[in-house]
Amino acid sequence: MALEDPIYLDHHATTPVDPRVMESMLPYWSEAFGNASSSTHRYGWTAEAAVEDARERIAAAIGARDPAEIIFTSGTTESDNLALLGIARAERGPRDHLITTAIEHPAVLDSCDALETEGFSVTRLPVAADGLVSAGDVAASITERTLLVSVMAANSEIGVLQPLREIADICAEHQVFFHTDAAQAVGKIPVDVNALGVDLLSMCAHKLYGPKGIGVLYLKRRRPRIRLEPLIHGGGHEGGLRSGTLPVPLIVGFARAIELVLEDLEEESQRLGALRDRLWQKISRGLPDVHLNGHPTQRLPGNLNVSFGGINADAVMLALKGVALSSGSACSSASGQPSHVLKALGLSDAQARGALRFGLGRSNSEDQIDLVAERVCQEVRALRAHHEPATPSRHARRS
Ligand SMILES: Cc1ncc(COP(=O)(O)O)c(C=O)c1O
Repeated sequence: MALEDPIYLDHHATTPVDPRVMESMLPYWSEAFGNASSSTHRYGWTAEAAVEDARERIAAAIGARDPAEIIFTSGTTESDNLALLGIARAERGPRDHLITTAIEHPAVLDSCDALETEGFSVTRLPVAADGLVSAGDVAASITERTLLVSVMAANSEIGVLQPLREIADICAEHQVFFHTDAAQAVGKIPVDVNALGVDLLSMCAHKLYGPKGIGVLYLKRRRPRIRLEPLIHGGGHEGGLRSGTLPVPLIVGFARAIELVLEDLEEESQRLGALRDRLWQKISRGLPDVHLNGHPTQRLPGNLNVSFGGINADAVMLALKGVALSSGSACSSASGQPSHVLKALGLSDAQARGALRFGLGRSNSEDQIDLVAERVCQEVRALRAHHEPATPSRHARRS
């Protein structure tokens, strides 16, 4: 990055491609440009070999036993859609009930809405004030009609890590399929599909220093087979589950990115956790009426979500020139609505609108964090001085 580039604190939205990932992809744009489905010549064989090699490496990275369990998609959004719509439509019948949570990504929530219009029923479980879903609530919501439970691994706004293993055990006991959206978790915390006990898992490359436009749906091979109705019809690629010419360079890049990010996962998560704690300490010591959103410890190491009482986060962001961050998920912030995740934690509209999400990643240093903390405190103080809140915020009343 150039010196004058803003400090990037939006790593939940996306990450830059690692130069080593870029390098791994290069040959597949030009000299090794073949179509992985071309079985009659060397260009095709080379491309196919690269795809199958990447599939094996990605499977190994998430502990999948069989590379055939990896289905390439365009990203997590498509993987989530394929998981939910795919299973529901393929298994349409007496089991017409799905369970999810109120704080899922729109890729899951909107898929559930779509299924409701097709006659399925959906339970959207509430979460506690710290963002955690109760496994007991999942168990209590399962009926003989329940087909699938979908609970995200790590929340994209508040970073909260859900008790996947506990939920998986409940699903297994009731013979209900279990899907998790792990877009924010893979590459940041250890994710092993068998240790977690998930049947389906969505992820993508661009959250882990890989390219945009490539995702994976992990689909466990089990008996009886999990049936999925494809969303995209055509040449029958990916075992008929996702037609379309495979983007070989992106697939190769995904494999390299996930391997690289796992190489120093523990070290990097400790580093980011320490930086994140430092940022929170400086902000919470420097300002009154600030509130940490989400569970204090059961969260992604690089995530900090803070509500600043009495002000609007958009105003802070505008004032904080030189820092690239977000007030929520990039995908839903365009709607202008207060975050559905923060609302589900019980925050008022004003508190939700006063929240900033700091997403730390590889490029962030201690110096940057100190500078950001100082700037945030300055700007929030200045904004508060100009806009005295009409009523104190809930958190202010508490303290
Ligand atoms: C939890 C979660 N699911 C899904 C998505 C969408 O991912 P993609 O951009 O790969 O479609 C995101 C991206 O912000 C996310 O954080």
